[in-house]
Amino acid sequence: RRAGQVQEAAGEDEQWLEATAGRLRTALMGYNLQAKIAGMRLTPNAALVRFVGSDRLRVEDIEAKQSALLTTHGLRVISISPLPGEIVVGVARAKRQIVSMWDLWERRALNRNAAGLNTSFLLGLRELDGEILYLNLGGPFAGVSQHDPHTLIAGATGSGKSVLIQALILDIAATNPSALVHIHLIDPKMGVDYSAIERLPHVKGGIIIGQAAAIEMMEGLVIEMDRRYELFRQSGARDIRSFNIKAAPEARLPMKFLIHDEFAEWMLTEDYKGVVTSIVSRLGVKARAAGIHLVFAAQRPDAGVMPVQLRDNLGNRLILKVASVGTSEIALGTKGAENLLGLGHLAARLSGEAATVFAQAPFLSDEDIEDVVLAIAAQDG
Ligand SMILES: Nc1ncnc2c1ncn2[C@@H]1O[C@H](COP(=O)(O)OP(=O)(O)OP(=O)(O)O)[C@@H](O)[C@H]1O
Ligand SMILES: [Mg+2]
Repeated sequence: RRAGQVQEAAGEDEQWLEATAGRLRTALMGYNLQAKIAGMRLTPNAALVRFVGSDRLRVEDIEAKQSALLTTHGLRVISISPLPGEIVVGVARAKRQIVSMWDLWERRALNRNAAGLNTSFLLGLRELDGEILYLNLGGPFAGVSQHDPHTLIAGATGSGKSVLIQALILDIAATNPSALVHIHLIDPKMGVDYSAIERLPHVKGGIIIGQAAAIEMMEGLVIEMDRRYELFRQSGARDIRSFNIKAAPEARLPMKFLIHDEFAEWMLTEDYKGVVTSIVSRLGVKARAAGIHLVFAAQRPDAGVMPVQLRDNLGNRLILKVASVGTSEIALGTKGAENLLGLGHLAARLSGEAATVFAQAPFLSDEDIEDVVLAIAAQDG
């Protein structure tokens, strides 16, 4: 009976997909645009309709009609992606599907290097092709190039920043022993979103909830980076990867993550802003070879709380729904994040990708997180 219900639901979804594609095509033709459908697919968030690109159907043409498509035709266009010879248009689903972290874990592949470290982490499901989107910190993987060492996460309140950070931390910890990855977590919100996560053996020194301790932690990272460069020099290694391959297992250096949720909150303090900006600049691109990675999250990373220097150092952009085009332009570097659906729907700008990548971040309930943390702690040794 349950199988029957699932099948029925799938049938309804297919019908909706076809109907939506048909309505979109008719609407575009009504605006004198050429709308030849090349294919369609359902994602957790949208109907993706692939149109043959031509001089009579360009991205700008669809953008210009985006508002009318919503108000006249009830079609909420959430993405317009140019591909060679095609334009792929996403129309929001009325009922979205949650992407489960368990499903992604079952499907994921590992990018383990010779020292035993996995350096590619789950971000979600790519809208365009349904494949897993990874953050590649240690080298190219899954047909995608290596990404920048540091990451900015932005999005309005409730858009899913902390859930994305939780998923990232759990994936890091689930795929690596705590001897090889250390996570340092700063949270001005007193760590309320991370109480289970704090018990992971990878999370070192507890959650930092004060500015003085946060600065001390970050200054320690700069010292650690310099120490590592000295170690590399002595052993003739180029970076953490080549160092760890040569080193005895107990001498291997752990990859280090500094994750700072709600950093904008503290950047209103001039002192904090100055020190953090300077530390992040010193870490800069040099941190990559040392295996040190920053992840900073904020609701509205505008110039007042995020100096250009800081923004430029946080090269990977994982942007959830933001309130305005202006915020999207600052955070993502282009418009589009204002049209996201919230709840983990994200737009990513990653090095090596020509265009914005849309994806859906995974979700785990609080109980799931508890279970995963216990399982990781039990197997870690
Ligand atoms: N990927 C997701 N899938 C489904 N639901 C999600 C997802 N991400 C977030 N949510 C839902 O949205 C709620 C808010 O998410 P989250 O706490 O991560 O937001 P936030 O961006 O950190 O907000 P704030 O800025 O207020 O801290 C979650 O409790 C969850 O119910
Ligand atoms: Mg949050």
